[in-house]
Order: sequence, then structure tokens, then C-alpha cells
Amino acid sequence: MHRPAMDTLNPYRNAPLSAAVRALCSAMTRPLREVLSRVPAGTSVLDYGAGDGQLAAWLAARGRTVVAVEPDPRRIELGAALHRGLPNLCFVRDLRAADARGPFDVVLVVDVLYLVPRAERAGLARRLAALMAPSGRAVLKEVVASGIVRDTIVGVQERLVGLLTGCPPPVVDLPERRELDSLALVFGTIRESVDLPVAWYAHRLVVAGGTGGGRG
Ligand SMILES: C[S@@+](CC[C@H](N)C(=O)[O-])C[C@H]1O[C@@H](n2cnc3c(N)ncnc32)[C@H](O)[C@@H]1O
Repeated sequence: MHRPAMDTLNPYRNAPLSAAVRALCSAMTRPLREVLSRVPAGTSVLDYGAGDGQLAAWLAARGRTVVAVEPDPRRIELGAALHRGLPNLCFVRDLRAADARGPFDVVLVVDVLYLVPRAERAGLARRLAALMAPSGRAVLKEVVASGIVRDTIVGVQERLVGLLTGCPPPVVDLPERRELDSLALVFGTIRESVDLPVAWYAHRLVVAGGTGGGRG
């Protein structure tokens, strides 16, 4: 039974309505508890494609040190304002800016790869793996392709969110299960690969690499 991650919403109490709605939808429709529980306590985390930092802030508020990489300057601005009380969370625009802060115990990639062109995904995985500590782990979570009807619903939802938040509609290309698993292999041995369906969304969570170097 899916339990929404309502505790990720605390920073959004005074957020602009569009950001609060997006965060609420995120918490309701994604298995965020399962994702967050795979990030050990006391670790350094690279959160790639962090958005306005909903997950990054939850982790930073609970003792992880987080570098949140986000290409959209509006989301960085919003995230920096929403989470300004967290000295162990910083936002950067790209991986070059994250380089000097690594290596990281955990590389977290949640609902990002579907926005990255397919031909670029393996190269991105290699780039991220190079930033991971030797005993580090990657935690990947994506909605995977699962048939024309459900994939279309996801595409329509993305368009609606784009309209709501004033962002251009993204090109959505959901990865296949197999593709996600083979991208995870770039980070090391696959420790876990599970389907976590929520409503019509086919979420897949893959953990690869080592212990993550943390206490949990
Ligand atoms: C659906 S949001 C997920 C945000 C966050 N990971 C979460 O789970 O709450 C996708 C984010 O990926 C960012 N993004 C899109 N293309 C990207 C790319 N090529 N590299 C890094 N981030 C990207 C978007 O700007 C957006 O903030």
C-alpha cells in the first residue's frame, strides 16, 4: 500500500501555489519513502536533476550533505529560497560545478532520465559514476515505459504540469526497465531492482554499487 511522503512537504507551506501543488502531486504519486530510505544516514549525496529540492531538502534536514544539480535557474532560485535554512544543501547548475565537491557516497537520480535524450543517457551515467566514491551507491528511480495508454497519461500529465508552472512542455521518453537496469550497471553491481507501482505509474527503483558509505 502506497504511503505518500507528506513530510517532504513541510518547506512548501509558504511556497507559490504552483510549486506547492507540484510538490503535493510528487508526494502523492511517487514512492518517495522507498527512494529516500535507500540513502544511508550521514552520507554525502549528489542529487542530479534535483528540481526545487524536494528530496534534497528532506535528506539535508536529516543529516546528509547534499549537492543538488539542477539546470533550470528558476527551480534553483525557488529551491534556494524554500530551503535557505539548510547550510548542508547547495544548488549548482551543472556537473562541472559539482566536481570539486565530490566524490559522493550516493548518486541520486529520480525522475530525470526520461527527460534526457536516449542517446545521451549512457554517457551521463558514466559521468555520474565518475563522481561516485569507490564504496558509493547509485539510487535510480524512474517511471518506466509500460504500454501506450499509460505512457500517454504520463506525457499528458507532464504537459499539464508544464502549463501550470509556466515551463515549456518537455519531451518525454520513458526508459524501458531493461535500459534502466543496464544504466545502473555502469555504477556497479545491482543490489536491488524493484517495481513500485503507484496508481497507473510504473515506477522502478534500482540501487547499484556499494554500501553508500553511510551509517544506515
Ligand atoms: C520531474 S523533475 C524531478 C525533480 C527531483 N529529482 C525529484 O524527484 O523531485 C525533473 C528535473 O530534471 C531536470 N532536468 C531536465 N533535464 C535534465 C538534464 N538533462 N540534466 C539534469 N536535470 C535535468 C528538470 O529541470 C527538472 O527539475
